[in-house]
Amino acid sequence: MSAGPATARIAEAVLAVWPEHARYVEKSLAARDAGQLATTETLAEAALILAGDRLAEIAAHYRWTCDRLREEELYFHRNGRYRLSSFAEADAEVYSDADYMAKYVDGLLLSQILWFNHAASCDFFLKTAPALLPPGGRFLEIGPGHGLMTALAMRDFGLTQAVAWDLSAVSIGQTRHALELLGFQNVQYAVQDIMEVRPGTHAFDLVVLSEILEHLEDPKAAMVKIRGAVKPGGLVFVNTPINSPSPDHLYLMETEDDARALLTDTGFAVAAEAFFATQGTALERALRNRVSVSACFFARPSGR
Ligand SMILES: C[S@@+](CC[C@H](N)C(=O)[O-])C[C@H]1O[C@@H](n2cnc3c(N)ncnc32)[C@H](O)[C@@H]1O
Repeated sequence: MSAGPATARIAEAVLAVWPEHARYVEKSLAARDAGQLATTETLAEAALILAGDRLAEIAAHYRWTCDRLREEELYFHRNGRYRLSSFAEADAEVYSDADYMAKYVDGLLLSQILWFNHAASCDFFLKTAPALLPPGGRFLEIGPGHGLMTALAMRDFGLTQAVAWDLSAVSIGQTRHALELLGFQNVQYAVQDIMEVRPGTHAFDLVVLSEILEHLEDPKAAMVKIRGAVKPGGLVFVNTPINSPSPDHLYLMETEDDARALLTDTGFAVAAEAFFATQGTALERALRNRVSVSACFFARPSGR
């Protein structure tokens, strides 16, 4: 099985600026089954639309982002913890630095295609949600970033509308720009802090949090707030990484149980789960060697 043309174009653009990354990319693509490769190609087609004539620059920013992650990995493996622990530190170093953020967002866009764990998590989301979700449900994504999850959910789940929230006006503006470029008009955008959600004011059928909870000081408090925004019988989808140092990751999870506890300690019952390690490494080995693992859960508020 081989990668589709859009995936190959992105891989070529990255290898043109970073030839030494070839083995990583090969291994990461070889780990995917046919369904995961098809999802990767869909993501790559959307990423090429978003990239427009900036693909070479975005590829350079992907390399820059991976260099930053490698620095954090060194710190993590030496000290056994993430370097930063407060939102104020992450805000000062990352979120408030417009130049840093612009490169980082570009890097994360291509990681969605090139990293096995990111593409496989998206594939799991798209394949699993339809059986759990009522048709035409009310959909919210928190911190949608590049917008690809919302775009594919709208397309694949037959949603006529969606809601997107982010704490940062800049981030939500980037999501709006991306979704409009991809042709999705019926999305309602809001600057909204998870911690300020009042119970009983929202009733969503599906709330998506992809790569959000590890950025928070107290993700369990956030999940309690989110529980109040989910309809009885509704769902959350959480994708959060274990042992995954990054310049703005604050909350360290070291095991599958640590990740699952974000839900089970906050009034949710897990309906489906999957774990995807970097480059398709076997889960046990990845956990033993503290290699990054994406933990994905669908969960429902329990007792409602
Ligand atoms: C790494 S991005 C996630 C991007 C995208 N979901 C992905 O999977 O690549 C994290 C986002 O979470 C947002 N965020 C962080 N804390 C938040 C909070 N308390 N409420 C709402 N959004 C928050 C940040 O502004 C940022 O845009």
